[in-house]
Amino acid sequence: MSRILEVNNINKIYSSEGESLQVLSGVSFSLNQGESIVITGESGCGKSTLLNIIGGLDDATSGEIISCGYKITALDEEKLTFYRKKEVGFIFQFHYLLKDFSALENLMLPLLITGHKRTSAKEYATQLLNDVGLYERRKHYPSQLSGGERQRIAIARALANKPKIILADEPTGNLDEKNSMMVQELLFKLVEDYKNSMILVTHDATIKDKGSYHYTIKNGRFMSL
Ligand SMILES: Nc1ncnc2c1ncn2[C@@H]1O[C@H](COP(=O)(O)OP(=O)(O)O)[C@@H](O)[C@H]1O
Ligand SMILES: [Mg+2]
Repeated sequence: MSRILEVNNINKIYSSEGESLQVLSGVSFSLNQGESIVITGESGCGKSTLLNIIGGLDDATSGEIISCGYKITALDEEKLTFYRKKEVGFIFQFHYLLKDFSALENLMLPLLITGHKRTSAKEYATQLLNDVGLYERRKHYPSQLSGGERQRIAIARALANKPKIILADEPTGNLDEKNSMMVQELLFKLVEDYKNSMILVTHDATIKDKGSYHYTIKNGRFMSL
């Protein structure tokens, strides 16, 4: 199996007004293609910080990350933008769908941005809608969809550009228990079908059995469970 991610000795210290807070201390782990990792831990333990650093949305204070073949801790902004757009699929707690676009259009957009022609973008977006069981909702706007449906579209959008790695930050955090279970099942199934790799972080300990590996963060330290 090929290595998709290598995280080596990452430290993150937030400093403000003379106070410094060490959120991550010597975090190291790796991930192979097709594997998924679940990271649980109490609110405020540094899960989002770690995911944002791996996604190139935030800088580490020290340490090295090699993701999808790029040493992202040393990339210039242009290459980092390409990495975020092409190699990573983000799913957040809030869906961030564009309210003036239909479900289908929300899925076509990332494809058009990365250079797909309109017809092929529409065809692939339609397939993605089918994959998340929402073809019937293709003309609906986000406000006309339920919370669970919106999150399913957000998952489809994250998969649209065939990213090498999915980064999911509390993807079911806004859903009730029934929808949360359904969205979790779908997410893990699609990641498997697409032979994707995923890091999912959540404070919801019931998710933990789903990934290939389970870790937690406590007092800045990364630990296997
Ligand atoms: N930009 C920031 N400046 C200072 N402290 C921050 C910043 N972002 C997050 N933190 C702090 O870092 C810690 C970890 O935050 P976060 O990664 O969001 O935790 P989690 O996602 O596990 O809930 C928290 O104590 C939070 O207050
Ligand atoms: Mg968080």
